[in-house]
Amino acid sequence: EESGIIGYEHYMLKEIQESPRAVRDTLAGIRFDQVSEAASLIRNSERVLVVGSGTSYHAGLLFGHLLEKEGYDVRTLIASEATTLRPREGDVLISISQSGETLDVLNAVKNHFKKYNIKSISLTNRIESALNFVSDIRLHTRAGPEVGVAATKTFTSQLAALLYLKSLIVGEPTDYLEGAPAAVSNSLSQQGYAKAIGEELCKKSDMFYLGRGMGVPLAMEGALKIKEVAYIHAEAYPAGESKHGPIALISDGFPVFFVNDGERTALLINNLKEMKARRAKTYSVSVNSRIGADEEIYFEGDSSLAPFYISPFLQMVAYFAAVCKGANPDRPRNLAKTVTVE
Ligand code: AGP
Repeated sequence: EESGIIGYEHYMLKEIQESPRAVRDTLAGIRFDQVSEAASLIRNSERVLVVGSGTSYHAGLLFGHLLEKEGYDVRTLIASEATTLRPREGDVLISISQSGETLDVLNAVKNHFKKYNIKSISLTNRIESALNFVSDIRLHTRAGPEVGVAATKTFTSQLAALLYLKSLIVGEPTDYLEGAPAAVSNSLSQQGYAKAIGEELCKKSDMFYLGRGMGVPLAMEGALKIKEVAYIHAEAYPAGESKHGPIALISDGFPVFFVNDGERTALLINNLKEMKARRAKTYSVSVNSRIGADEEIYFEGDSSLAPFYISPFLQMVAYFAAVCKGANPDRPRNLAKTVTVE
């Protein structure tokens, strides 16, 4: 499956389509001893520090949000800026990196946090990586090698592993996650709709992604993806924040993509109305309840599985926007798969 690109024009689409398998393998391959130890470290900590870069940072934000909702004190940090935070006794660190080799992350963990003698957990997609060597507990995703520069199946797999960990931490059953691979497959079945939206966005130069709660990091990831592969200037905001400035940019046809995880929908509908009143073109990827965007892809499913419906769809939108632009999504200009400079 992972060995070649036969039948696909690009690795990016191939890897997006491998996501149900990647999520299934990640969940099946979780080592219970390791993840239980990680969960008890976090449960007994006073504060949780989460670090990562790019897409892995977004996975960290989502994890942090879920823990915060459960009453945990969490600081999610962009790796290159994490070194100004002075850890204190009772902190536990979790670093997230698909490659396990990103220099900003390694620096933060190895040259900064380790000096303070705090326990650290890592989550990588590679068993043998530099990050693993500097961590006390090593967790892994099992997405398989990712060739495309854009993180796709590794992100969805990170979310699966982090949701599992979160459930153990708070002592809730993990069986709802058995539905995650099917949620991803369901999302992938809407490829035709993603293509149509991607081809519409391909003509635009700027856009917003807006969400609330868990939808915020998912919106940020949606924006990063379309920026990275389709060169569309996309900004993400918490939907409530959009009226504190960004809304000034809205005029006829400005694309606004809502990420609706099915919670606090009434508030999201208000934000949508504000955008429509200014003649924005609105899109939404919605789970559990509709909000009434001009173009709305709706998945009937459990809100707690929302990331598994939302992320693959947004990845496909970015992919098709890139292809429509004539860009090669596997090799975006100026970017490296693994960033080993500071
Ligand atoms: C994702 O599409 C990007 N290419 C980039 O943001 C990436 O996620 C970041 O460089 C971190 O990589 P890592 O997960 O290997 O640490």
